[in-house]
Amino acid sequence: MKFVKELKRTEYCGNLNSKNVGQKVVLMGWVNTRRDHGSLVFIDMRDREGLVQVVLDPNKADTATAKDFRSEYVVAIEGIVRARPDGMKNAKLKTGEVEVEATRCEILNTAATIPFQLDDQNVNETLRLKYRYLDLRSEQLQKNIILRHKVAQLVRNFLSTNNFLEVETPILFKSTPEGARDYLVPSRVNPGNFYALPQSPQILKQLLMVGGYDRYFQIARCFRDEDLRADRQPEFSQIDIEMSFIDVEDILDLNERMLRHIWKEIKGIDVPKLQRMSYFEAMDRYGSDKPDTRFGMEITDLSEQAMNSGFKVFDDAIARGGIVRGICVQGGGTFSRGQFDKLTDLAKKNGAKGIVWMKQEADGTIASPASKFISADKLKLMFAKLGCTAADCGIVVADDYDPACSALSALRLHLGRELKLIDHSKYNFLWVVDFPLLEYSPDEKRWVSRHHPFTSPTDEFFEDMIANNEKAYPKMLAKAYDLVCNGYEMGGGSIRIYRNEIQQAIFRLLGMTEEDTKKKFGFFLDALKYGTPPHGGIAWGMDRLVMLLAETDAIRDVIAFPKTAKASCLMSDCPSQVSRDQLVEVGVRLSAQAEKAIEDNKSVHA
Ligand code: AMO
Repeated sequence: MKFVKELKRTEYCGNLNSKNVGQKVVLMGWVNTRRDHGSLVFIDMRDREGLVQVVLDPNKADTATAKDFRSEYVVAIEGIVRARPDGMKNAKLKTGEVEVEATRCEILNTAATIPFQLDDQNVNETLRLKYRYLDLRSEQLQKNIILRHKVAQLVRNFLSTNNFLEVETPILFKSTPEGARDYLVPSRVNPGNFYALPQSPQILKQLLMVGGYDRYFQIARCFRDEDLRADRQPEFSQIDIEMSFIDVEDILDLNERMLRHIWKEIKGIDVPKLQRMSYFEAMDRYGSDKPDTRFGMEITDLSEQAMNSGFKVFDDAIARGGIVRGICVQGGGTFSRGQFDKLTDLAKKNGAKGIVWMKQEADGTIASPASKFISADKLKLMFAKLGCTAADCGIVVADDYDPACSALSALRLHLGRELKLIDHSKYNFLWVVDFPLLEYSPDEKRWVSRHHPFTSPTDEFFEDMIANNEKAYPKMLAKAYDLVCNGYEMGGGSIRIYRNEIQQAIFRLLGMTEEDTKKKFGFFLDALKYGTPPHGGIAWGMDRLVMLLAETDAIRDVIAFPKTAKASCLMSDCPSQVSRDQLVEVGVRLSAQAEKAIEDNKSVHA
């Protein structure tokens, strides 16, 4: 290892350009590809910044080992940067203007044949995840991981410049209510007791406000045991922010400035002032509280036209207090029955009972599966209200508010993608505001917080809250806001309750007994008694932020070591079983069900 001892790396391969011509450089990295022309060996040498072509003469003593170079060998090169001759330049490569003529080289380590080609997009993801450390060598992942670092630095600098202090909070803590299941950690020294990994640092950041650190931030790890999706991981990072002595406007202003700073620095884009939309407007127009506003196809209310239609599906929905709403699909007049069946399945998957489609026949009448029940005039009226013309089709959902919105939103997003209506070069940001404070859970037969139970109601509901005025619950609004971009919830937060009696009232309203409250949140309620400043905050999904900046739609692409949809790490094969002794040590015994799962698993793998 003469090289590593005597010679130090001078440049990254991927950073060389025509400015380096004539310079003597020392490079260390991997052999990406190798072409042996006998008298000369050409390699593309790679490090985290990219590739550069190196030319080696295996017939010279100092570069003779080039004969033995193979893919993914780790090599060191000393050489001179020279301009590539005209006609040999490679415009596709960042370093394509130059190459390095090696004067010395050394193999630092050999490599077994890797199980897939690094930049082959067709390799299945299971294999990539199993060998994540190899996939991390691919150009795309290198770009994403470096981007993530830049974003973290921008955030830290921006917040620090704005007087925020970075404070770390514990990972071993008590349950924090963000609506998912907790990951539990048994305590060896306190048998029968468990820590919960934080779903977010929510309570802790509020306690930092009580502690007087009036502007806090942290890039915090959060853990949630919930169903995973392309934009969700069981452990993820938040840019977590909390401030004292502020109101909604201060938080929105600060975060908008940070958003602008990030987009300007990373993408060179000037983000205009963010639009604001109330929760109900977002639901009414897009069926979602995180609307993708990059395309139209907005929802139209047909309740008036559908009233007394004689069609049971519509009439029942309206009688129950539900809605009849639809979208106009431009050019959808050519859709087949098969396509409508697929859309029906999609609506069902999203909670609605189905769809009613409508399209215009050559004679001007409206064809629809509902035409047996609804008069031709009424159908025409609905078709026109949706804004449909002869070339289009209408898709209508009649149901309770939530399932109807959810189905229409899913249909809209699916059709938007399918019909290529989305301009992928756009970033459409907005604040969604005026969320309801509570929602009724029919399953649990009680009111639950829409955000988390520390969110403040708007001022006019304080008295109703203290008086437990149940009639006011459905109307109560929260001082909460979500930052939405292209259909993703990029962040969310709220102004908090800072008065003990209101916090207690909320816990009561959520059906928690006094004993429950004391056990889970006694320490927090106590803290609120000791001079708590008015405060509020927000948390951005760091992974989602980087995902949007990296222009990918899988959060895994921006996390160095992500988990699969089943919350496992294919590389290290975790979660995995532990020894009986370890279980005994932490005071845990497996249930019969878990024992059976282990046995079943053994036979599967036998
Ligand atoms: P919330 O639960 O809305 O709020 O989370 C804030 C943001 O975190 C991101 N996020 C996730 N990202 C990846 N995988 C997940 N499983 C996941 N869950 C959430 C989203 C989301 O907008 N304590 C509050 C914040 C506050 O009130 O200040 C909280 O955690 O981008």
